[in-house]
Amino acid sequence: MRVTVFGIGYVGLVQAAVLAQVGHTVVCVDVDEKKVDDLKSGIIPIYEPGLTALVQENYEQGRLEFTTDAKRGIEHGELQFIAVGTPPDENGSADLQYVLSVATTIATHMDSYKVIVNKSTVPVGTADKVKATVTAVLAERGLQAKFDVVSNPEFLKEGAAVADCSKPDRIVVGTDNTEVQELFRELYAPFNRNHDKLIFMDVRSSELTKYAANCMLATKISFMNEMANLAERLGADIENVRKGIGSDPRIGYHFIYPGAGYGGSCFPKDVQALIRTSQEIGYQPEILEAVENVNMRQKNKLFENIVKHFGNDLSGKQFAVWGLSFKPNTDDMREASSRVLMQSLWAAGAKVKAYDPEAMNECQRIFGDRDDLMLMGTKEACLKGSDALVICTEWNQFRAPDFDVLSESLNHPVIVDGRNLFAPEIMNRRGFTYYAIGRGDSVEKCST
Ligand code: UDX
Repeated sequence: MRVTVFGIGYVGLVQAAVLAQVGHTVVCVDVDEKKVDDLKSGIIPIYEPGLTALVQENYEQGRLEFTTDAKRGIEHGELQFIAVGTPPDENGSADLQYVLSVATTIATHMDSYKVIVNKSTVPVGTADKVKATVTAVLAERGLQAKFDVVSNPEFLKEGAAVADCSKPDRIVVGTDNTEVQELFRELYAPFNRNHDKLIFMDVRSSELTKYAANCMLATKISFMNEMANLAERLGADIENVRKGIGSDPRIGYHFIYPGAGYGGSCFPKDVQALIRTSQEIGYQPEILEAVENVNMRQKNKLFENIVKHFGNDLSGKQFAVWGLSFKPNTDDMREASSRVLMQSLWAAGAKVKAYDPEAMNECQRIFGDRDDLMLMGTKEACLKGSDALVICTEWNQFRAPDFDVLSESLNHPVIVDGRNLFAPEIMNRRGFTYYAIGRGDSVEKCST
């Protein structure tokens, strides 16, 4: 089938490449000329395992095209995907200006039937707004062209985006039009072989499904972080509690890892956006507000542990920070806990020596050159002269460090771990003061 994707960001690019890989011809349109030129020369704007090879193969074989020419894109596809950003505006609502601007562009150039597909995460009611925008532009043009607006949310995870998109758990499609449903059956047939993953529903339910999924996952994480804080105060170990509750299939093992709070481009933004949507219709979203508050508190946890050990005045102190991205296998630092930590350390007068396997350029881009941030070439290079090691992200290469090197290099054998990578008793035996998340007596045990 012929597909057009507006917006070559995370969602758009991965979706386009995966659709091209099964034989569809996909034209990707973006307003960013540099991004389009880079993609044509094989430069991928994001770090995502497997994506570069996939894009290059499909580009070379002519199934994937990149252009700034919207008209060309609109002529090409019967299906017009909108996959542009919906960043939070100043009060946390999803900003729809890019989505509606693409809708206007499509309506300006279309002269035959089109299916306009919202792939971006958009508030309930956006499909209606897209419909109204397209109808208004077509009326101005004096055209009666037919179109449908469909919601087809994306559930991919950064770091596993290609795999998630190629092997989806479910494909949610919001449309009541049975002919459009058939088009989607055809589009996604290559991904729908073992059992029927297509779930058709009305457009508003589909829009809410995306928010409900992300907010449910964020709720699980904040719930576990709350339990971790309780465990710490009650002398229990959250890692035992996690295994104890995860074994109940109604709860499950996924997304119950306590830590230094959730980050990324989706959970913080989507929880906030659903809170704003609720408030706009006069509903008080008690659980969502708590989820957000617990997460903001949790992001301070690493700094609190540092202050617990070193006191409030950190001037003259230096901290080794391992992990800058909001999670492993990505260079994305949006809403990362490392940012909250570093800002607090700098405000308290401390310096940071940091290392991340992928996010060094991103960190440099965000913070620029400053005296209190040194970006180091290896994780070991951060340790020399540092007063403690702080772990923000659970990259695999941080899981089994050389502890002798750690204790020789650090000024003090102190580790503040935001991802519970090590066993407190072993750290204790090795002579470290080990601050983990929710591991009750770990600090007391380690420091005796
Ligand atoms: C998420 C959803 O998983 C995905 O379905 C949706 O399409 C987009 O948002 P992503 O933001 O890429 O994906 O990352 P995810 O792996 O879900 O992690 C989000 C955050 O939660 C990370 O900061 C991670 O460290 C944190 N997390 C995750 C926990 O703290 N504990 C957990 O148990 C799981």
